Amino acid sequence: MADRVYIFDTTLRDGEQSPGCSMTVPEKLRMARKLVDLGVDILEAGFPIASEGDFEAVDAVSREFSWVQVAALARANTPDLEAAIAALKHARRPRIHTFIATSEIHLKYKLKKSQQQVLDEAVAAVEMARNFTEDVEFSAEDATRTDPEYLEQISRAVVAAGARTVNLPDTVGYSVPEEYGDLIARMVRVLGDSAIVSVHCHDDLGLAVANSIAAVKAGARQIECTINGIGERAGNASLEEIVMLFKTRHDKLPYETKIVTEQLYSASQLLAQTITFGPQPNKAIVGDNAFAHEAGIHQDGYLKERTTYEIMEPHTVGVPETKLVLGKHSGRHALNKRAADLGFSLSHDELDALYQRFTALADRKKGIRNEEIVAMIHELTGAATAAAN
Ligand code: KIV
Ligand code: ZN
Repeated sequence: MADRVYIFDTTLRDGEQSPGCSMTVPEKLRMARKLVDLGVDILEAGFPIASEGDFEAVDAVSREFSWVQVAALARANTPDLEAAIAALKHARRPRIHTFIATSEIHLKYKLKKSQQQVLDEAVAAVEMARNFTEDVEFSAEDATRTDPEYLEQISRAVVAAGARTVNLPDTVGYSVPEEYGDLIARMVRVLGDSAIVSVHCHDDLGLAVANSIAAVKAGARQIECTINGIGERAGNASLEEIVMLFKTRHDKLPYETKIVTEQLYSASQLLAQTITFGPQPNKAIVGDNAFAHEAGIHQDGYLKERTTYEIMEPHTVGVPETKLVLGKHSGRHALNKRAADLGFSLSHDELDALYQRFTALADRKKGIRNEEIVAMIHELTGAATAAAN
């Protein structure tokens, strides 16, 4: 039996608060519907104290998707918690996610508070949240740059106060997998069964997914992540990459989520249409080129046997089909296959002649469109050659 890992989606909170990603309440509702279809376990819908829109979004999402665990973020202070509690007033499964920074650097320069003060405020916040709901998560912001002894102390204290989930974020994307795994293993040992240990990784050094995976191997059982990896600065761990790692490398990573992976591509597309940018073309899993093959050797191998160059089937993530991109690296096989797909059956000589024209054109421009291939075939053979005719 594989271990269950909970997916906490923060696309509508950490993702939404980053440049170019703000969403209106109707847009958040539309995206929330997709996240629900996708099967996320916990949906963080906003930071109610931050704006009226965030408050409304949390309220609207928790009413509309009453069967889903909906989280609202709050700093560890009374006004923030009051706003989060009010926004979740109609929720059937509310989660309060309260946080305070714990690292020396944040205490000294940002909060100007002692460790004891921060610990007392964290405990008070958890107690206040627990008066509203049993489902309370505490995050120790900048956990990876926090003194581990103090992190142990504050984690034990918030659990004693009623937190069920303890999140240890790599807020500034500073950690490396082995180090993060060691920290998580230590906290899992300290907390035992008293709370779920959660991870929340930023991608400043491109390690958010690797760090999240190291943490799960060390015993974390909740991952906070976003669609397309959006989030503060370089973003958060990408949900689609984590989920497909578990699915594709189940031999090495025997963990289960309840994500419906066939919905990943459409979730990515919907987000891209909603905010101001989409994933880069070479983005793993959901990028335009993630299932495209252009090099002739790759196309030839792929056409003989898909698994030569593909480790996942496109339909498992909801991508309509593998794309053979015809460009200057493409070979005869791929060109012949495209011609057949377009309804033409070419003789050996016709294919040779077409291939010459094709490579001459492909040298001059990027990516050859179907219409251009059809035009070249017509020039060469006359429309009468069309096999379908
Ligand atoms: O990155 C971070 O530390 C956060 C917390 C609020 C969980 O986003
Ligand atoms: Zn964050």
